Amino acid sequence: MAEPHVRVSNLHKSFGALEVLKGVDIEINAGEVVVVFGRSGSGKSTFLRCINFLEEPTVGTIEVAGISIGAGSPTRHRRKQIQSVRKTCGMVFQQFNLFPHMSVLDNVMEAPRRISSDSATAVKDHAMSLLADVGLADKAAEYPIRLSGGQQQRVAIARALAMKPQVMLFDEPTSALDPELIHEVLSVMRSLANDHSTTMIVVTHEMGFAREVASRMCFFHEGVILEQGTPEQMFDGSRLPETQRFLNAVM
Ligand SMILES: Nc1ncnc2c1ncn2[C@@H]1O[C@H](COP(=O)(O)OP(=O)(O)OP(=O)(O)O)[C@@H](O)[C@H]1O
Ligand SMILES: [Mg+2]
Repeated sequence: MAEPHVRVSNLHKSFGALEVLKGVDIEINAGEVVVVFGRSGSGKSTFLRCINFLEEPTVGTIEVAGISIGAGSPTRHRRKQIQSVRKTCGMVFQQFNLFPHMSVLDNVMEAPRRISSDSATAVKDHAMSLLADVGLADKAAEYPIRLSGGQQQRVAIARALAMKPQVMLFDEPTSALDPELIHEVLSVMRSLANDHSTTMIVVTHEMGFAREVASRMCFFHEGVILEQGTPEQMFDGSRLPETQRFLNAVM
């Protein structure tokens, strides 16, 4: 058996007196697509942000692609490990957060230009091929403000993929979009999922997407994974009343 690609053990996270994550454990294999869902405030974003150390775990261990980092004080070695984990994880947020003063192409090339050792030509070719993958090759020279929300989010996905991440973290990537723009972003995510080359953790309430591509769904409730299973198990199998109530509300 291969080692899991992402392993979260006994993850706790508090903000002052507020304990948001109360012991999250999960092992995710390479190429899995895990959909995370649950009520507002249940800790979904905090969970994602702990995986790439945008939030420091209070207790617990995060392992990504063989690098294992425990909660603890920042030593130099630990900072280096965190940098490696961040390089391994791409993240896409609800608000696309593109750099407004850069063209679409420059947005996608920004991180690899700064960090990767690839040549300028290789970085540009890769960026253009990613823009083609998300259907936006013709917008390379455009500025973000001139794009629709759906187009901006697809650029944000291309930008995250530009660092060749092994893991992609998506935090409600379609919830800020008008309904008619959601499908174009989901379709890009669906292709990425069907590729099985990237491990994906997706916080979303798009249950059609979950049913189609999730290898597993995790229901977050009050800071723990209360229930998890395949989409079939979640949608059709026996479930806890909390999960049932939530699924009924979002579908
Ligand atoms: N930086 C922070 N400082 C203090 N409290 C925070 C911080 N980040 C999150 N919280 C609190 O932690 C709890 C969980 O937040 P989190 O954003 O993880 O929830 P969520 O499940 O992603 O919710 P939503 O569906 O609304 O995005 C909330 O009560 C929130 O107010
Ligand atoms: Mg959130």
